[in-house]
Amino acid sequence: MNLSAVSSKQYPSEGYPEIALLGRSNVGKSSLINTLINRKSFARTSSTPGKTQTLNFYNIEDLLYLVDVPGYGFAKVSKKQREEFGVMIEEYLTTREPLKGVIILVDGRHAPSDDDISMYQFVSYYHIPTLVVATKMDKIKGNQWNKTISQVTKAMEINQTDSLQLFSAETKKGKEEVWTWIEDHMK
Ligand code: GTP
Ligand code: MG
Repeated sequence: MNLSAVSSKQYPSEGYPEIALLGRSNVGKSSLINTLINRKSFARTSSTPGKTQTLNFYNIEDLLYLVDVPGYGFAKVSKKQREEFGVMIEEYLTTREPLKGVIILVDGRHAPSDDDISMYQFVSYYHIPTLVVATKMDKIKGNQWNKTISQVTKAMEINQTDSLQLFSAETKKGKEEVWTWIEDHMK
């Protein structure tokens, strides 16, 4: 079963491993979930940022939960709401025992934002294994992909134990590699 939560009492209780998706509003977190499971609108997506407002736990064949997290850096939500999102996300990331790793999405077209860098520093501090995914790569010519790799690696100072993967929900580029990373981190 899929479920939504705003506090720890509402988290699922089966104990399946969880992998959470983090990233700026509109970067493509929900789209990545849909690509991974070959569904168009399993996780709700929108061209309007701020679509995902709760922790959404997507049950993948009773083997794991992919956890869709509200995006950060969305100017139009109120300051109070942004603080509430912050508390909700922090509580989840710092206390959740079944959480095995996070995928931080960044927009491959731009340098990572300060929020992206802070989020990576936060999860690194808590030793949460991380895959950084540079997405929307269908918008970038192949001869620029190496530039994205070096830009993101340098700005985020990605640890040796973490990885970077180029991805596109449009072309499905990187889908198999993301699955491999998830499977490697479910144990
Ligand atoms: P919030 O729920 O607001 O935090 O956003 P989100 O990160 O879940 O983004 P979502 O998956 O809803 O995608 C936002 C927009 O980007 C939608 O219009 C998607 O169609 C588009 N999009 C997502 N991934 C890609 C991609 O790989 N390539 C292209 N071209 N567009 C994408
Ligand atoms: Mg979303």
